[in-house]
Amino acid sequence: MKLHVYLGENLAGHLESTSERGVVFSYATDYLKSGQPPISLSLPLQANELPQKACIPFFEGLLPEGNVKKRISEYLHISEKSTLKLLQELGGECAGMISILPDDEHLQIKNAYDFSPENYESLSEKKIVEYIQNINVRPLLKVKNKLRLSLAGAQEKLPLVYANDKFYLPKNGAPSTHILKPTGQGPLSSLSANEYICTKLAKYAGLPVPNVKLMQIDETEFLLAERYDRTIQDGKIQRIHQEDTCQALGILSDNKYQNDGGPSIADIYELIKNNTTIPLLETRTFLQYVLFNFIIGNCDAHGKNYSLMFPKGSVKLTPLYDAVCTLAYPNLTQKLSMKIGKHYEIRKVNEYDFELLANQLGLKAKALMDTYHKLIRKIELSLKVIKEDPSLRKHDDIFEVIVNKLQKNL
Ligand SMILES: Nc1ncnc2c1ncn2[C@@H]1O[C@H](COP(=O)(O)OP(=O)(O)OP(=O)(O)O)[C@@H](O)[C@H]1O
Ligand SMILES: [Mg+2]
Repeated sequence: MKLHVYLGENLAGHLESTSERGVVFSYATDYLKSGQPPISLSLPLQANELPQKACIPFFEGLLPEGNVKKRISEYLHISEKSTLKLLQELGGECAGMISILPDDEHLQIKNAYDFSPENYESLSEKKIVEYIQNINVRPLLKVKNKLRLSLAGAQEKLPLVYANDKFYLPKNGAPSTHILKPTGQGPLSSLSANEYICTKLAKYAGLPVPNVKLMQIDETEFLLAERYDRTIQDGKIQRIHQEDTCQALGILSDNKYQNDGGPSIADIYELIKNNTTIPLLETRTFLQYVLFNFIIGNCDAHGKNYSLMFPKGSVKLTPLYDAVCTLAYPNLTQKLSMKIGKHYEIRKVNEYDFELLANQLGLKAKALMDTYHKLIRKIELSLKVIKEDPSLRKHDDIFEVIVNKLQKNL
């Protein structure tokens, strides 16, 4: 089996399963000559094929995870372990600029797409409700047989376009511009409101975040996030490349938590320091993300919840996404995805742990603590604005829980 891997309109190379060497990726000769960048920091440009161990973390990292992956695999009758077969079915529209096409597909991927009926079909609100209600039967990424959409993460989501208050599904290789994340069920029914509140908190505290809307159609609630890896130029929709820090470091999704072999805060800090265009600025922003996630009680800020993006040849940190106060749900773990100082247990993190972290990163402890206290002050001011947000009218409960879970006593 052989798949064509595109970065925008350029054929970057081929992902192939071989009988002796397993899955391998080879850059196309023309791509190597073209001066285009590598598709991942973990997959350097080279004439020799990249072995399975090197290429699987990046490619498998494009696929959904956990129960979403399980349900899609069952739905498609494909083994969860078959990264190639899953990418063949889902990899048309991924995170960043990657499009993966089967050998026999003759679609020409373009760098820019008109917002026209040829590229986008309208999607009624009624259909959205129907799709969300049927999630357990049919996964959102595969609501139509011809759709080939993929995004990482363990939550169901549907990449689409939202324009002039209407929804559209991309087709013919066109990019989506938004991500719809349905809220959770049972105790997690406040999840969308939670992510909305935390994203707005980050925004008002001065951190870059995607635009998000908390929406409801009939009784069905979801979060709609604008994709930061898409842009509209001269009326045409374009992709911007991105990869998460696990992909960039060659770490499998299964190992995304530090305790399971995933990256530590220091690993990501180094990655950013060594690869971004303005390291001083980006490392500072990353630290703010880490502190923000700690303050809001987000124990799920693992290596796939931090990403790098590559707009116009530069390398920077993406906006902060998937910001959720996980402490709001007593059944979820209270262990941080990445240790701070000596502690994973969020409630055990103390000032000494911050001092250790500062030492690990070559920073002054006082500067780190100052940033933490400044961020808390900004968050407290933001709470006042968010409390008045009309889309949170029915969500006083989760708002209060988040306020009470803020880690602000160091
Ligand atoms: N606003 C956005 N713009 C572009 N890409 C995004 C955006 N939000 C998320 N992504 C991409 O989609 C992936 C999954 O998103 P997200 O982390 O929100 O999902 P999740 O299912 O809640 O994840 P988790 O398993 O960590 O709970 C991210 O890793 C990132 O690559
Ligand atoms: Mg995530």
